[in-house]
Amino acid sequence: MTAESVCVAMLGALKRTVRPALQQAQLLSALRHTHTPWTHKTQVRACAATSATLHLHQDSLELNYAGTQMHFNYVWLRDHCRSVSSYNSQTNQRILDTGSIDLNIRPDRTAVEDGHLVLSWPGGHVSKYSLNWLAENSYEGKKQSTVQPRIFWNSDIYKSANIPSAKWDTFMSCDDEVKKFLQNYLLYGIAFVDDVPATVEATEAVTQRVSLIRETTYGRTWCFTSDFSRGDTAYSQLALDRHTDTSYFQEPCGIQVFHCLKHEGTGGRTLLVDGFYAAETLRQRSPEHFELLSRVPIRHEYIENTDNHRNHMTGIGPVVNVYPWNNEIYLIRYNNYDRSVINTIPHGVVQQWYVAHRELTTELRRPENELWVKLSPGKVIFIDNWRVMHGRESFTGLRQLCGCYLTRDDVLSTARCFGLQA
Ligand SMILES: [Fe+2]
Repeated sequence: MTAESVCVAMLGALKRTVRPALQQAQLLSALRHTHTPWTHKTQVRACAATSATLHLHQDSLELNYAGTQMHFNYVWLRDHCRSVSSYNSQTNQRILDTGSIDLNIRPDRTAVEDGHLVLSWPGGHVSKYSLNWLAENSYEGKKQSTVQPRIFWNSDIYKSANIPSAKWDTFMSCDDEVKKFLQNYLLYGIAFVDDVPATVEATEAVTQRVSLIRETTYGRTWCFTSDFSRGDTAYSQLALDRHTDTSYFQEPCGIQVFHCLKHEGTGGRTLLVDGFYAAETLRQRSPEHFELLSRVPIRHEYIENTDNHRNHMTGIGPVVNVYPWNNEIYLIRYNNYDRSVINTIPHGVVQQWYVAHRELTTELRRPENELWVKLSPGKVIFIDNWRVMHGRESFTGLRQLCGCYLTRDDVLSTARCFGLQA
């Protein structure tokens, strides 16, 4: 390697999590072999607290900064230019037509000045990138960080955390209360608001503090009673095993809200299980089974044919869904009621898939992983339906439960606007 190096002055350090050294070494080794050396003149500015080093290659540059080795492709760099002619910082939208970039583009001049990478392109255009911005937006940086910090829980972990419920009055009037509520929701996948008037209208009002309601075939806000009014087991008095809802949607509903408006009888406690806790346990114990559940697509289906409702929906995807760049779990589909015919798994894989699925089921059914909650009038629960499973014990008497689904994008957007990582 004959690449030229540059040492530059930098102030401030980049906060990031530490990745395992072996993984880092493997990544760097793989990346090194994809680049051929390419010498280029660069400019030296100064040296101080934090140094940055550049190596120029055929189609990319290598930046060593804040303890991380990163690679930036030249087309990517031109595409991500933040100059006024390339990017509208008022609307946060790209102006540059990516289709107009020469795919063999290389900078004529490369420099690091005052904490910025400065590139001069053929034709004279100049691009300037803050080194911190590059570090935060590099593939290597993203691979090290989580999209959404979470605390995985079993019953003991959740109970000992003593998470306070939000209170209706302050929740409806104080943004800081909503922010605290959302922070708990993001970390644990469940959060409560207490003292809500036991009406459908108040339930809708409390949800609209954080999101839009996602209307589905069940309506905008639904009311469960044991009247079998819909072709679904939920509309009975029977116990329901842990499951995620609407797994038969291509995009399952992100958030579920429950509010028990009335119950004159016994039983009916709500069961909550952190699916990510179980899946992470499975990943540690049997990585090959985790891998299988995260790669094999299966189908969920909802067929309803009653006097008033006709529906036929299907959703296809793996039981466990992970981001491909950092393997972070973001979605679980687990619903034994609605799982459809398995015809998406080759013959030679079916047995292993069932073994993997059984291991996850065993984990999900461990009593220590079950959080039982008695929902009473006034207590509204928000559940991350991509993460936390719900179920219920059987009950007697009249039990009226209302609720709705929320659009996930809007909940996460509200959280980000509060400055939360989501
Ligand atoms: Fe459900």
